[in-house]
Amino acid sequence: MSFDLPASPDAVRRSHYTHRHLQLLRHGSTATPLRAIAHVDLDAFYAQCEMVRLGTPRDTPLAVRQWDSLIAVNYAARPFGITRMLSATEAREKCPDIVLQHVATFREGEGGKWAYRDDSFRNIKTDKVSLDPYRAESRKILKTMKDELERWCTDDSEPELYALTQGLTASLEKASIDEVFIDLSPLIYCVLLRRYPELRPSPQEENKDAALPFPPTTALMWGPESCLIELGEHGNEEDDPDWDDVVMLVGAEIVHAVRNAVWEKLHYTCSAGLSRNKMLAKLGSACNKPNLQTVVRNRAVQHFLGGYKFTQIRMLGGKLGDQVTAFFGTEKVSDLLNVSLEQLRAKLDDSTASWLYGIIRGDDRTEVNPRTQIKSMLSAKSFRPSINSMEQAEKWLHIFAADIYGRLVEDGILENRRRPRVITLHHRTVQSRSRQFPIPAANAIDESLLFDLAKNLLRQVVGDGQAWPCSNLSLSVSSFEDGVAKNKAIEGFLLRGEQAKSLSHSIRPRDAESIPSEHPSDKRRKVDDSGIKRFFFQPPNAIDPASNVEDSDLTSENFAASDNEGLQPPSEQGSGLVTPEIFEGQIDSAELMQFICPRCSKSIPEYEREEHNDWHFAKDLDIQDRQEAVTTQQSRPANPTTPRGSNTRGRGGRGGKSKPEKGQMRLAFQ
Ligand code: CTP
Ligand code: CA
Ligand code: CA
Repeated sequence: MSFDLPASPDAVRRSHYTHRHLQLLRHGSTATPLRAIAHVDLDAFYAQCEMVRLGTPRDTPLAVRQWDSLIAVNYAARPFGITRMLSATEAREKCPDIVLQHVATFREGEGGKWAYRDDSFRNIKTDKVSLDPYRAESRKILKTMKDELERWCTDDSEPELYALTQGLTASLEKASIDEVFIDLSPLIYCVLLRRYPELRPSPQEENKDAALPFPPTTALMWGPESCLIELGEHGNEEDDPDWDDVVMLVGAEIVHAVRNAVWEKLHYTCSAGLSRNKMLAKLGSACNKPNLQTVVRNRAVQHFLGGYKFTQIRMLGGKLGDQVTAFFGTEKVSDLLNVSLEQLRAKLDDSTASWLYGIIRGDDRTEVNPRTQIKSMLSAKSFRPSINSMEQAEKWLHIFAADIYGRLVEDGILENRRRPRVITLHHRTVQSRSRQFPIPAANAIDESLLFDLAKNLLRQVVGDGQAWPCSNLSLSVSSFEDGVAKNKAIEGFLLRGEQAKSLSHSIRPRDAESIPSEHPSDKRRKVDDSGIKRFFFQPPNAIDPASNVEDSDLTSENFAASDNEGLQPPSEQGSGLVTPEIFEGQIDSAELMQFICPRCSKSIPEYEREEHNDWHFAKDLDIQDRQEAVTTQQSRPANPTTPRGSNTRGRGGRGGKSKPEKGQMRLAFQ
């Protein structure tokens, strides 16, 4: 453990933990060793959505298909060897009774509504995938989880307790369409004070660093729903439990209640990981799928991580992981633990070395970030074969406008909650081009306005020449602004003074003739940010791993197209705001807020974030198109277990082995 624990005068009677640690738990601080973070991930999510919608029995094999590929496989189908790598025909060969449900689609010429259609799989040319049904289920699940967590907040039956715990809640971060992180710390604090009155702070208590009394129990009763990670040879299960163990036990109870509520109310099963930080919780949730939760107690962390390849840890899957492997001749966490900080520093820059040194020891202070609002919405279509006329393209613009409008309505545009300020069209021939335009503030946004704006943008692209054949077209809206809040007048939407000026300057239709080879902010940023970096440098783990998929909503057609080798999984998309934890209160963090892009690890000023995301977006389209060109030329890999890119989703398996069998409760890791 990397936390310094104060020496206790009476190790037998006193806890390792102090009143200060407990108060930090109350505040959900990342600095307490009592911290408890859960990661909850729905099992075979899209497949479960279809099972719930169709009322399919849980033991019926079912997979969701998009065109001829499978994009989600339920747990009843997995024993037949059915994976996402298979085609629909291959799946039927392995399991003739499998239910293959195609995703909902929009269809050219059939208005702006998505629908489930029996013949979609044959209509890649006229249909466009809609993930709306899954987004809607995701929202319901999130709401159910929040409601359940709410029930665990303070009760007012006891005035003393109420005063101590009033207003404490769990924070919840949507990490992708089917997963959330929950910071349970404040809730657990409430429960601890309720159950163990000796922990309540007394007004006379002067010394916050005094050790807490020892928990009044020597054996914790873990329920069957929790799988405990074993402690390994150096851990001792016989040691009396301390408060960190009790915290995990209470956390497990809350997580179980949350999962149970989702099952009872909506009939979805999910798996969860519970530990002291996001990294460990996320690895944990994948350990015992489906429908179980895995607890990584403080005393099990080292043994747990020791069994992983460090390349399975987030941010170490790519280049950095390759470099570290090359430098130290190993991929194993257990080997890297023998490398000193100085040795790491000799090969890597100081901050990366310190980050790596900490992360393989289970140290991750990334906050749970409860931002829930979507930052942009994208609707896209790849054309095979390419399209060749304005007329064909316009049909798709109608669908994009309808798709985005439907999502804006869900987002509350009719109630004037928020509205986007910018619309962007991306167009791809040999090169990628994008055009943006401000959405006129005076107009109400509806489908036809979006379509008209999109059409104008397309005309500009066509006017520039060489627009056909077009292999990919997409429309996005971004730069959301809060709408008329409560009593505010409609003018709330109108841009104000400097804001208006800067917008019209920055979103003048750009001549983005091709994807910039250089990062836009590299060119434009004049101020040397090394000073800022000194304050704000966050090693890769500080990047929020839980970027909201719908934030940079690249999930739509592009992502859902399964087997997208090289495309980032949802958890790699979007962005994370970095807050300077250690300088809290000393400087105005908002002013210097930096955004570290999880895609390229560059530190970008917050005001350039949108443009930066746009740049990645264009780049993604470029990569996707190249991959499509390659994959259409290649046949499917013969061995479905070792295709290129098959592990790009970076799951938290164990040392490259497959996931444990269903029902396996305690894992004996070598
Ligand atoms: N998804 C996808 N394409 C991918 C990865 C994921 O379309 N390359 C979709 C899947 O259809 C899936 C959802 O995103 O249902 C969530 O993905 P993930 O959690 O990775 O897998 P699940 O299907 O939920 O399976 P598991 O039980 O292993 O979590
Ligand atoms: Ca899942
Ligand atoms: Ca997931």
